[in-house]
Amino acid sequence: MAYKIAIIVGSLREGSINRKVARSICALRDDNLDCSMIEIGDLPLYNQDLDANPPEQWTRFRQQVGEADGVLFCSPEYNRGVPGVLKNAIDVGSRPYGQSVFDKKPAAIVTASPGSIGGFGANHQIRQACVFLNMPMMQQPEAYLGHVTDDSFDASGKLKDGPLKGLIETLAHAFHDWVHMIHESRRLLAEDAAHAAQAREHV
Ligand SMILES: Cc1cc2nc3c(=O)[nH]c(=O)nc-3n(C[C@H](O)[C@H](O)[C@H](O)COP(=O)(O)O)c2cc1C
Repeated sequence: MAYKIAIIVGSLREGSINRKVARSICALRDDNLDCSMIEIGDLPLYNQDLDANPPEQWTRFRQQVGEADGVLFCSPEYNRGVPGVLKNAIDVGSRPYGQSVFDKKPAAIVTASPGSIGGFGANHQIRQACVFLNMPMMQQPEAYLGHVTDDSFDASGKLKDGPLKGLIETLAHAFHDWVHMIHESRRLLAEDAAHAAQAREHV
């Protein structure tokens, strides 16, 4: 069974290396991960006053993420932090209070940069928000992808062979296994609870 994955890319740039990384992860597991890129560039800035009558872009975003089995964040780092457009999307999805579409969704974070520390700062800021939002976050492998440039991909946007491709393959497998483990554990727990309830009825 393929899990529905909402991909949220923290870059609006046409030729974004993070978008290419996201596509590479999906392409490697297209048998098990049914990925959709979720548009975030059109989301009006979060304003609590609008919660009573939300803009249709917020509603569309919340619905798309809400329908997913898992979330994959792929983002650049801007000035050692999370790009504003991505933080806005996280804020939009997290509200109204008590109705966060991120709640309990397994997720992973990948940050890619031409720089050598691979967006470490942004990665951990995204992680901090997601942990607060009750998302089970994949812990390993950590994905601070440094020295990623246009040259890491061929003209069609595919990853060239090399160490980065190996790491992305490991990541893609680990992410699928993570999403599967979370959903399978919940299914088994629900089954156990149903059996226990049945047993109590027969006492
Ligand atoms: C406003 C801005 C701030 C940036 N700050 C950082 C930074 O803190 N760390 C870093 O590694 N790269 C930084 N960069 C460079 C980006 O990593 C680089 O532009 C990257 O290609 C952006 O990701 P994208 O290709 O997915 O759009 C910054 C770029 C911009 C436009």
